[in-house]
Amino acid sequence: MASLTIRKLDDAVKTYLRLRSAKNRRSVEEEVRVILRELIEGREEPLTPFAVPPAASSSAPTQQRTSAVPEASVTLIIGGGIAAYKSLDLIRRLKERRVEVRCVLTKAAQQFVTPLAVSALSHERVYTDLFDPQSEFDAGHIRLARDCDLIVVAPATADLLAKLANGHADDLASAILLATNRKVLLAPAMNPLMWNNAATRRNVAQLQRDGAVLIGPNSGEMAEAGEAGIGRMSEAIEIANAAERLLRPPVPRPLAGKRVLITAGPTHEPIDPVRYIANRSSGKQGFAIAAAAQAAGAEVILVSGPVDLDDPQGVTVKHVESARQMLEQVQAALPVDVAIFAAAVADWRVANEGEQKLKKTSAGMPPLQLVENPDILATIAKLADKRPPLVIGFAAETEHLIDNAKSKLARKGCDWIVANDVSPATGVMGGDRNTVHLISRKNGAKDGEFAVDSWPVMTKEQVAIELVAHVARTVTDKSREPAS
Ligand SMILES: Cc1cc2nc3c(=O)[nH]c(=O)nc-3n(C[C@H](O)[C@H](O)[C@H](O)COP(=O)(O)O)c2cc1C
Repeated sequence: MASLTIRKLDDAVKTYLRLRSAKNRRSVEEEVRVILRELIEGREEPLTPFAVPPAASSSAPTQQRTSAVPEASVTLIIGGGIAAYKSLDLIRRLKERRVEVRCVLTKAAQQFVTPLAVSALSHERVYTDLFDPQSEFDAGHIRLARDCDLIVVAPATADLLAKLANGHADDLASAILLATNRKVLLAPAMNPLMWNNAATRRNVAQLQRDGAVLIGPNSGEMAEAGEAGIGRMSEAIEIANAAERLLRPPVPRPLAGKRVLITAGPTHEPIDPVRYIANRSSGKQGFAIAAAAQAAGAEVILVSGPVDLDDPQGVTVKHVESARQMLEQVQAALPVDVAIFAAAVADWRVANEGEQKLKKTSAGMPPLQLVENPDILATIAKLADKRPPLVIGFAAETEHLIDNAKSKLARKGCDWIVANDVSPATGVMGGDRNTVHLISRKNGAKDGEFAVDSWPVMTKEQVAIELVAHVARTVTDKSREPAS
């Protein structure tokens, strides 16, 4: 068998092997054996870092070595300024935030930091040349411009700002910046006189008009002895935080500070210790509303009848069986800003609930007397004090849907009714989809005038999100008619 002399391999391959073996704490020979074994078994690690085959090196993710999978990726352009050393720390700060970083160094940047240091920190190949046959065989500069979620330029030199503001593309960095459709975050760093120069002022104003986001520069001491002023690049942490805000913008929480009460599921009305009267409600719609309200920032209390669903995260859930228990928990949850009654509460319960299991007798069937359950929706909607500012009921009907829902709204004294057709053919009861109509009193209209908003068929989650969006808009508008 032929033997392999590592010394005689290409320089790029040797560098790759040396760095990879050091990282994996193996000898170079052992690393070659591992690579060959994995190749034969079809599970080789991507040959990413350090400039080996371009197809693998430029696009394959290397995050296998880090436990957390990156959630976002940044192309970091490092310009030729003293502050380039801070970009080494920036790479680490971004990676800490589960951001994959691919770096581009301008020719001038390579006077301040080495591609080797940058690639060792980013665990990626570093890009320096627009006319690099290894990465341009498939338009590498376009991939660097677009196969990322954000472009960060740090330090953004006066020269790079001028090129970007004026649409130059005569090197890799400026070509990427011109070819991108991603947001660009610029961290300028330069001497205060360069920063205050009329040309830089014009370029910065133009770049802001073009949609670039600037972080810094800060004021402070310059590298040049005795010079101080505005021009210091922002610290790596500040730039990483600004990048993170652009990559993961804060989720809007329109119901923050609001308390929302939701009921869901059926109720079980006992006949005796082992039997009960129930209905087919699955609780899915109410649970989805609870999850959507929680996601919108509300403090959510969910009072649920017996269901086969996991409690939504971040929601206080009170589990009950009967309508009377449900009313008790609903009253205990007041005051709330919004109450949504999605539970299918049994209208009746057995008056003569057996203390022992009812037995078959020759006298025939035991007579079951039914009495009316408390009407939870009407009770809360008609409260003199502690009435929630927005009370929403559900009307599950099998016929005359809209008319029945309108009269329910008037009868119960609530603000909106979400009406849905639950006849067996619709599959709504227990199913995952729902077709609803949102019925409300018209703003400023006389009694008996209603607005009807019919929504297309949607999943119960989508219905929940839509309803919560209407609630959020209305609660902030302080109006009772759903803001559309
Ligand atoms: C020691 C030294 C430090 C420099 N520092 C900066 C700087 O902080 N900001 C800047 O805009 N230019 C600085 N320059 C000038 C840039 O390196 C020069 O304009 C270069 O062409 C920028 O190239 P680039 O924009 O392609 O990286 C510096 C030059 C030298 C020699």
